[in-house]
Amino acid sequence: MSSLPLTYFGNPILRTKGKPVEKIDQEIIDLVHAMEKTMDDHNGIGLAAPQVGRSLRLFITRAPRQSPDGEWVEGDFLVFINPIISEPSDESWLREEGCLSIPKVYGNVERPLKITVEAQDLSGKVKKMSYSGLQARVIMHENDHINGVLFVDRMDKKERKALEQQLREIKKKFN
Ligand code: CO
Repeated sequence: MSSLPLTYFGNPILRTKGKPVEKIDQEIIDLVHAMEKTMDDHNGIGLAAPQVGRSLRLFITRAPRQSPDGEWVEGDFLVFINPIISEPSDESWLREEGCLSIPKVYGNVERPLKITVEAQDLSGKVKKMSYSGLQARVIMHENDHINGVLFVDRMDKKERKALEQQLREIKKKFN
C-alpha cells in the first residue's frame, strides 16, 4: 500500500463538508489502509479523508497514550466512519495543535476534555465510546476536517493573525 499525496491549506477540499460513506466496500477499505500508511509516513497522529483528496466523513487516529507508569506510548490505530460527536464535557483544556495539511504551523486550541463518539468501524459495526484527553482532542481535530474546519479557525484571533503570513506562504507554495 503506498502513501497518498496530501492536500494543503488553500485547497478548497479542506473547506468542504464531507459526504457520508454509504457503503464500506473494498474501495473504502483500501482507502483506509492507504491513509494509515500516509499518516505513519508523516508521523501524524490523525488523518481525515479530505486531507488525501476524498470528501468523505471518515478519519483515522493513532494518538499516543499514557501507560500505567505514566510513559507515553504509541496508541491504537482507530477508524471512524460517519462519526457523530456528543456529550462534550464542560471542562476544557488548551493545547498546541498542528496539522499535516498546514506544515510547520502550530497553535493553541481550546477543546472539551471529554466527548462521546458514535461511529462505524471498518467492519461496519456502530460503536459508541467515550474518549478523553489527547485522544478526544485528536478526534475533534479530525472531525473538524470532515466539516471543512481547520484548527487555525479555532485559535485565539490575535494568535491566528500572527500566523497569516505563514498561511499565505503555504497557500502559495502547495497549491
Ligand atoms: Co489536521
